[in-house]
Amino acid sequence: MAFELLCQHPSAARGAATACALPAFAIRDEAPCDMGAREALLDDAFGPARFLKTCQRLRDGSAPAPGLALVATDDAGALVGTVRLWPVLAGEREALLLGPLAVSAQHRALGIGRALIDESLARSRDFGHRAVLLVGDAPYYARFGFERRFTERLTMPGPVERARFLGLELVEGALRGACGRVVAAATPAIDLPRAA
Ligand SMILES: CC(C)(COP(=O)(O)OP(=O)(O)OC[C@H]1O[C@@H](n2cnc3c(N)ncnc32)[C@H](O)[C@@H]1OP(=O)(O)O)[C@@H](O)C(=O)NCCC(=O)NCCS
Repeated sequence: MAFELLCQHPSAARGAATACALPAFAIRDEAPCDMGAREALLDDAFGPARFLKTCQRLRDGSAPAPGLALVATDDAGALVGTVRLWPVLAGEREALLLGPLAVSAQHRALGIGRALIDESLARSRDFGHRAVLLVGDAPYYARFGFERRFTERLTMPGPVERARFLGLELVEGALRGACGRVVAAATPAIDLPRAA
């Protein structure tokens, strides 16, 4: 799917364009040629311990959900942000696992993280997904509506800090009563919109 969202400012990501002096960036689908830059960015953001995280166990051998691997690029086309979402079953409920999310240290606090999350959640809704889980900093993700209450009766396939295990319902009630283990799911077959 060809897609590119040009942002002059964070608030332009899914709203009215705003004229300001902040650098422009674009959100687009990740391409195979982004792999090297994406991995370098993730190494910088998380270090080698990223491969030991419990969430990684749910990503090993899987592919991101279709249309839900996004990158941010600066005005020179360099990759400065990444987010990917993965299909999982959360106590037998279909859901997505968000992560890793990272923005290059030189480009933080410009709204790129917000634009990546906003776009990925908007697409997730458009594609018919019902819920999103993640393990991350609650003070950051609370602004997008992620809450601890949705994951209280779910378990991950390894150790996680419970306070960082968060959920978001894209469809009201999607995680109500969700109970049990989170496991990797087969990549769902969905019809992505075709490029014009
Ligand atoms: C977390 C991260 C993706 C945010 O990206 P970003 O483009 O800088 O974020 P935005 O510009 O959209 O938002 C910036 C806001 O988030 C806040 N913020 C950033 N990281 C935060 C964190 N870990 N906890 C709480 N707030 C955080 C900033 O203080 C800023 O607050 P403000 O809007 O009140 O000024 C980026 O800092 C990063 O890559 N960090 C290292 C990797 C990481 O920790 N990723 C996952 C987060 S658990």
